[in-house]
Amino acid sequence: MSAVLRDPRVEIRRMREGDLEAVFANERAAYSHPWTMGILRDCLRVGYDCQVVLLDKRVVGHVVLSVSVGEAHLLNLCVAQDAQGQGLGRRLLRRMMRLAREKAADTVFLEVRTSNVAARQLYETEGFCEVGRRHGYYPHEEHEREDAIVYAKPLL
Ligand SMILES: CC(C)(COP(=O)(O)OP(=O)(O)OC[C@H]1O[C@@H](n2cnc3c(N)ncnc32)[C@H](O)[C@@H]1OP(=O)(O)O)[C@@H](O)C(=O)NCCC(=O)NCCS
Repeated sequence: MSAVLRDPRVEIRRMREGDLEAVFANERAAYSHPWTMGILRDCLRVGYDCQVVLLDKRVVGHVVLSVSVGEAHLLNLCVAQDAQGQGLGRRLLRRMMRLAREKAADTVFLEVRTSNVAARQLYETEGFCEVGRRHGYYPHEEHEREDAIVYAKPLL
C-alpha cells in the first residue's frame, strides 16, 4: 500500500497465473540461466509467497519467498532490464522482508552469484551479511561453474 501511495504508477501485489507469461519474459531477459515456466508455475502451486511489481500496469518484476519453521529463503528477485535502477528491486525486497516477519521467520537467507555486483550491493545495503559460500553452485559458461555467496539477515 505504501508503494502505491509513494508513486501512483507503481503497484506491488500477489502474483497470479495470468502474470506468468510476463514474469517468464522478464526472467529470460534478466538472467543468463533463467527459471523455466514450469518452475515459476510450481512456485505458485506449492504456495510460495510470489509477488509482482507493476509499473504503469505492466508487470516489470517479481520476487519469490519460501518460509518454513522460522526460516525464510528468498528464491528469486528480478526486475525487467528496462525498469532497473528505479528502486523497484529494493521495494520488492522490502515487501518480502515484511512478509517474512509477518510469517514469524527469524532469519532470511539467499544465494547470489559472486559476479552479481548489483544484487550484492542491494542486499548489503539492506543489511544482509555474508555467512558462507557454495563452491561451483551456479552454472556459468558451457563447462564452468560459479560460486554462490550465501547471505543472511536476522529479523528479530
Ligand atoms: C538485482 C536487481 C533485482 C536490482 O533491481 P533494481 O530495481 O535495478 O534495483 P534498485 O533500483 O532498487 O537499486 C537498489 C540498489 O541495488 C544496487 N544496484 C542496482 N543496480 C546496480 C548496478 N548496476 N551496479 C551496482 N549496484 C547496483 C544499488 O545499491 C542500488 O541502490 P542505490 O540506487 O541507492 O545505489 C536487478 O538488477 C535484477 O533483476 N537483476 C537480474 C536478476 C538478478 O540478478 N537478481 C538477483 C538474483 S540473487
